[in-house]
Amino acid sequence: MKKLLVLTSGGDAPGMNAALRAVVRSGYYYDFQVFGCRGGYDGLIANDIFSLKSNDVANIIQRGGTVLQTGRCKAFWDQKVRAQCIDLLKRKEISSLVVIGGDGSFRGAALLQQEGGPNVIGIPATIDNDIIGTEYTIGFNTAANTALDAIDKIRDTASSHGRHFLIEVMGRRSGFLAVEVGIAGGAEIILTPEFPISNESIVELLYNNKRKKLSNIIIVAEASSIPGRSVKIAQELKALSGLEFKVCILGHTQRGGSPRVTDRTIASQMGEMAVRALNDNKTNLMVAIRNQQLTLTEFPPPDNPGRRFTDESLLHLNRIFCS
Ligand code: F6P
Repeated sequence: MKKLLVLTSGGDAPGMNAALRAVVRSGYYYDFQVFGCRGGYDGLIANDIFSLKSNDVANIIQRGGTVLQTGRCKAFWDQKVRAQCIDLLKRKEISSLVVIGGDGSFRGAALLQQEGGPNVIGIPATIDNDIIGTEYTIGFNTAANTALDAIDKIRDTASSHGRHFLIEVMGRRSGFLAVEVGIAGGAEIILTPEFPISNESIVELLYNNKRKKLSNIIIVAEASSIPGRSVKIAQELKALSGLEFKVCILGHTQRGGSPRVTDRTIASQMGEMAVRALNDNKTNLMVAIRNQQLTLTEFPPPDNPGRRFTDESLLHLNRIFCS
């Protein structure tokens, strides 16, 4: 029987478990013996590899996080460490690997394959939706709904007290999450790293609003992997306008929780496609959504800055709604 290893790597994303379940169950369908590895590449380095049967992934499709655990493994960037992993996988006769994660995780997988390791297929999972080559990454929809729920609640306080809020969402260097929830949450202004707005313009937009709003919600994309940008912006806006801004950083609440229908469905489809690709001896590819179709594509180029939000028309739309 062919042997397949699956691991989750990078930041957890709702729907990773649904993808894992799909990989394991499809694995047995395509006559693979399936193994899991705990904590991403760290588990591979530590030989923390165990058999996964279909029953082991029962009752996980609805769970957030990843039952395999995950991590951002720095040690895996060392070629000697990867050589040891390749050796281990050869001894275990594991010739196929599915990596569920983001582009950093895929970079590791591609190196492993190029250096003589197993065939690899990636499944894109990150709440940021910022992987080059795919229009969708597992977890984005659930994270957006989680953030939206929080925004709706903050709106109650904002309008009851006549307050202005900066709500900071994740997204790393991209504005996908900010725009998605900004439009759906009726935010007055959306700040993305791709289309910056000066503090002077923000103040002008707030003061010159035709409807003379007493409360405002500004969605701020974190625009890096370190939260807190909104605190500085609030201070700068106060200095400029005298207006008080409350800050709410949604942080890791956006990563958790039960995956929504979209994420469970796409994760299930991607999991099956990954295993089918390995069964067809394909390698060094990522499952992706392109032109709204499930497909296989190349891994993102190494050292890419991540997919950026480019659809300025959506921001224009929001300006119309909030004028
Ligand atoms: O990539 C997912 C993400 O949640 C980003 O939105 C965020 O910038 C980063 O991970 C946070 O990383 P960590 O889990 O290491 O705090």
